[in-house]
Amino acid sequence: MVSMRSKLPTPALANLAIAVLLLALAVLGLKILNRISTHPELTSTSLQAFLLSYCLLLFYSARMKQPYQFYAVVLPGLESLAVQELTSLSAHNIQAGQGGVRFAGTLDTLYRVSLRARCMTRIQVRVGKCHAMMLAELQHHVANMAWERFLPKGCKVVVQASAEKSKLMHTDKIAEHVLAGIKDALGKRLDKEDGREQQVYVHINNNRCDIRVDASGERLDRRGYRLASAKAPMRETLAAAVVQWMDWKSDEALLVPMCGSGTLAIEAALMGRKMAPNIQHDFPFKDWDIFKEKAWLRVLEKTSAMAQDALANKIDVSDIHVGALTACKENAERAGVLADLHVQQQDVQKLKPAKDAKAGLMICNPPYGLRIEMDGIQFYRELGHVLRDSFVGWRVAVMCPDWKHEKALSLPVRRRLRVKHGGLWLDVLDVSSNDVWSKGEVP
Ligand SMILES: C[S@@+](CC[C@H](N)C(=O)[O-])C[C@H]1O[C@@H](n2cnc3c(N)ncnc32)[C@H](O)[C@@H]1O
Repeated sequence: MVSMRSKLPTPALANLAIAVLLLALAVLGLKILNRISTHPELTSTSLQAFLLSYCLLLFYSARMKQPYQFYAVVLPGLESLAVQELTSLSAHNIQAGQGGVRFAGTLDTLYRVSLRARCMTRIQVRVGKCHAMMLAELQHHVANMAWERFLPKGCKVVVQASAEKSKLMHTDKIAEHVLAGIKDALGKRLDKEDGREQQVYVHINNNRCDIRVDASGERLDRRGYRLASAKAPMRETLAAAVVQWMDWKSDEALLVPMCGSGTLAIEAALMGRKMAPNIQHDFPFKDWDIFKEKAWLRVLEKTSAMAQDALANKIDVSDIHVGALTACKENAERAGVLADLHVQQQDVQKLKPAKDAKAGLMICNPPYGLRIEMDGIQFYRELGHVLRDSFVGWRVAVMCPDWKHEKALSLPVRRRLRVKHGGLWLDVLDVSSNDVWSKGEVP
């Protein structure tokens, strides 16, 4: 089956066509106004028809300006932070779902978001959507989608399927038929399979199929700097999300005790210095037919130019274990932010703010016994005492696995961010202090 999508107009050509049509409509509008003055009976119908076509054209032209539909996969719970991030990255039509956020934009949007998004796991691009209740129908629709724009010659296509509330529910069969549809569309182009792997996703909901290609390759949380690992490291995307959620700005003092391999501190330093987290990432879209080298280089250059030299205030980072501190320093060095961290060995139970230090933000990811063997409850109880005794006036975020630990911490919770991490739900508690702590009025 030969595809016809290559004959579809490119966004630039379509925009030109829209401009010409808008001009023609404007001329027509003037003519109508002219005739109305001499033939008043034309007024109502002519004006209605004119306005309707004008609105349709405006709607279509708005869509053409954002020709691609994207989907950002996020850890469940991080959707609203991803929405904020996408808004700040000038994405359009942003809509949060469960475990993902839809948005629209141009190829520039894809490049910008891919390089700069901190809390997203991967970005996918929609190839097409269709309605299907039978496998053959699905395969037929898939075969008519514009695969040649996304799948390079010789790539190995891997299809993943999910389905809910639909006639087609057998995900293996769905994936098989989507792959068959892609092969119908591309024929010999995929014969050799000597290129890189390219993931394709199909999600069916209420018989509506959304078919997307992966634009990220390796997950975006794998920034590449964390080669040295301490116990129970957290995903880089979650660390960045926590710093974003606490709205930390680089002029506020930041304390990261129990740093482990340094993920929280490194993500904060990258953020404080406006360094793009994925600048070294290997993106599969660079092999796609629609890839625009010039636009990519322009976005890359702009992104690199945003990075600032160093943080004005170093981030205070500590852990009780020397091994963790070594891992933290090695990782920070690889991430290019070692000079922004002040790393020292410190038992959190004896932690106090430096003399004359202004109150700032503290972010804690304590050991809690699920992946680290120790009495997590007792640890949280003691941490609660440390915070109440020495950190009144500070803003504090503490990661917490369940209500028993939260109860042991015994601090008033202002807000919570519930997120799924490593297959478990985790609460990030904002227990920022106020006068309540000093009076000992703890719930
Ligand atoms: C959950 S891990 C932190 C993981 C870290 N966020 C990461 O991504 O690698 C908890 C850390 O607390 C440290 N720790 C345990 N007891 C401590 C104590 N009394 N004082 C300071 N750090 C402690 C452990 O060495 C460990 O690195």
